[in-house]
Amino acid sequence: MISDRIELIKADITTLNVDAIVNAANSSLLGGGGVDGAIHRAAGRMLLEECRSLGGCPTGEARITKGYELKARYVVHTVGPVWKGGIADEPGKLASCYYESLILAEVNKCSSIAFPNISTGIYGYPKKEAALIAINSVNDYLKSHDSIQKVIFCCFDCDNYEYYARILDPGNN
Ligand code: APR
Repeated sequence: MISDRIELIKADITTLNVDAIVNAANSSLLGGGGVDGAIHRAAGRMLLEECRSLGGCPTGEARITKGYELKARYVVHTVGPVWKGGIADEPGKLASCYYESLILAEVNKCSSIAFPNISTGIYGYPKKEAALIAINSVNDYLKSHDSIQKVIFCCFDCDNYEYYARILDPGNN
């Protein structure tokens, strides 16, 4: 069952003991605020060293590094779209972030991966629409790929958590 492979939690993603955590990065991959800042702080300066060697990442794509001082073995860095009103293919780019991150995690033999709510902070993506895209993208991926056993949606704020909970379990909300 796909739903057995999806989990919703409200937590600080840097504390999770999973194979990979996903970072909502910017195209430089050189750190920033929000979850990017939290992950770099928790992973330590070696993460930035490795990121420097990657030469950036276009929006919608993903790159993988070690997790260093994090519990997670890997960090998958993906660059979400900045919300521009829905006129710049933001939905497609956001969906691509989830798909490319999952592919990269699978190629690196990860069986568990945790996502933050990509683009819904500094990049201003409306949370409800972003939640639908995240859940649909992950569901589509899991339907045709069976090696990743656990995808965790790691919300940090109540609004995001509520949106995900309503979509994932409409009967109970
Ligand atoms: N754990 C989990 N989620 C977190 C954490 C954390 N420790 N800290 C923040 N978040 C959540 C935010 O609440 C938001 O829901 O991550 C989500 C994404 O918000 P941002 O981190 O602002 O990322 P994003 O909106 O994708 O903007 C990316 O912000 O930090 C910079 O360098 C980054 O320029 C890039 C931009």
